[in-house]
Amino acid sequence: MLLALYVSSQFILMNDFERLEKQQVQKNVKGILNVLSNELLDLSSTTSDWAIWDDTYAFIQNGNEEYIQANLGDPAGFASLRVNVIVFINTQGDIVFGKTFNYGNNTVSDIPQSLSQLLAADNSLWHHIDANSVITGYISLEEPLLFASSPILTTQKEGPIEGALIMGRYLNSDEIEHVSQTLNLPINVSKSDDLKAEPDFSAAKSALSDGTSVFVQPLDGNTVGGYALIDDVYGNPFLILRVTMDREIYNQGIDSVNYFIWALLAIFLGFGGIGAVVLEKSVVSRVNRLAKEVRRVGKSKNLSDRLSWNKTDDLSILANAIDSMMEERLNAIGELSAMVGHDLRNPLTGISNAAYYLKMKYASETNPRTRQMLDIIDRDIEYANKIVNDLLDYSRKIHLEVTESNPKSLVDEALASVSIPTNIQVVNLTENKPLLKVDVDKMMRVFDNLIKNAFEAMPEGGKLTVKSKENKDKVEFTLTDTGAGVPKETLDKLFTPLFTTKAKGMGFGLSICKRIVEAHGGKISAESTVGEGTTFKILVPIEPPLERGDNS
Ligand SMILES: Nc1ncnc2c1ncn2[C@@H]1O[C@H](COP(=O)(O)OP(=O)(O)OP(=O)(O)O)[C@@H](O)[C@H]1O
Ligand SMILES: [Mg+2]
Repeated sequence: MLLALYVSSQFILMNDFERLEKQQVQKNVKGILNVLSNELLDLSSTTSDWAIWDDTYAFIQNGNEEYIQANLGDPAGFASLRVNVIVFINTQGDIVFGKTFNYGNNTVSDIPQSLSQLLAADNSLWHHIDANSVITGYISLEEPLLFASSPILTTQKEGPIEGALIMGRYLNSDEIEHVSQTLNLPINVSKSDDLKAEPDFSAAKSALSDGTSVFVQPLDGNTVGGYALIDDVYGNPFLILRVTMDREIYNQGIDSVNYFIWALLAIFLGFGGIGAVVLEKSVVSRVNRLAKEVRRVGKSKNLSDRLSWNKTDDLSILANAIDSMMEERLNAIGELSAMVGHDLRNPLTGISNAAYYLKMKYASETNPRTRQMLDIIDRDIEYANKIVNDLLDYSRKIHLEVTESNPKSLVDEALASVSIPTNIQVVNLTENKPLLKVDVDKMMRVFDNLIKNAFEAMPEGGKLTVKSKENKDKVEFTLTDTGAGVPKETLDKLFTPLFTTKAKGMGFGLSICKRIVEAHGGKISAESTVGEGTTFKILVPIEPPLERGDNS
């Protein structure tokens, strides 16, 4: 885009500047041509002044010396006229008087032979028929000559015409210098049939011979030349005139265009940079962060992990949409769990009843194999029951049925409902104070879960210590085992649903514990050192807050 702008500005603006430059040069060339034609006019009026004069009229007839002495004796007098050549020629073509004045060394000499030959050969330069006739123009001698010829008449401009007065001014370096200074422009002149060495003159010559009145061409980066053709008195191409000028306009144009382009480039880069920074800050980096967080949540074992972007811009709306999608998924899992749990419960009860009947009926059965089978049925029903209960507990809304109890009886009962492995020592240091208002069944499930977890963490045996302590309006329970322990990085995942390291585990145990404890307005946490053991701490209020429950 910038390139296109550069190219078009080059084309449009530089063309304009070139045209302006050309116009300026043409104007100057025409100015010089004007000065030169004024020179001719000036020369011809001087010539007429002298030619139409009784003294000259007499002199052309009798050639008297006094006239010469009086008028042409002192060449300094001619200096003011800037006349180099003066020729008096009578009607027969005889040169009565002819001299050349050289101002450089203040000398007078005969007229050049080339001029006398030309006059002898061509009477049209001096043969006047009309009293008003004037012949002016350029003629070619050793140097180009500005030439004027006027008929010699009396002061009253009466005839008969007695001959012609010719005056000439050399277009030599002095004269050119004179014009140069008048216009303050460097001028060069070259004969058309004898061009100067500079090659630009020949290019100009061919252009001008096509009829162009003023030809303009750059000479280099800093100068431009303007050319015009000057015809001689016969109308033949004679001189090529050149004026050179500084390319001020053009160069200033280039500077302006470059300045413009650089300024534009700076603006573009400035705005582009700011734009990039803004884009990076407001979009790119945030999209990257979002992607990173989505990946993190995707990998997280914690199903309740969310992006939780609480702003109102587009990206946060997207983040919230992802959050609610996950919420819906989780709800769907919950619903499915509830359905499966509910549907399995009835057949499980049926199996359980049937097993009970069989057990009663064959209580006296001595076949140890049959007893073993019945025990397996019992054990597996219990396990299936746990899974069903876990699913239901996890998915159901928790509703507390509060009754009075105390820490010791809660833990005693929980311990009584599990079979303690023989290699594990259980130390129960719970107190029977204070009185607690809790949902006893649900709190039993909490202790049941924690105790079983502790046993499972000590397959080689160990010690489980349970304590309770009254703490203001709360009771703090601690269950400390001497089992394998939990690495630091998994410690905060323990309470997420479906997190398990066990082949036969569901990973619902601790998340259900958490729900139940929190439903009582309490807290559950874990501390652990790998290889030494784990302590679970439960803090429950003596009285639960009213209408406590959760609906997750
Ligand atoms: N006392 C403990 N010592 C060491 N690790 C434990 C302890 N309690 C729990 N864990 C770790 O926490 C995980 C989650 O326990 P959670 O009770 O939620 O599920 P689970 O016991 O694996 O399966 P289940 O649904 O049968 O209870 C366990 O798999 C275990 O890795
Ligand atoms: Mg468990």
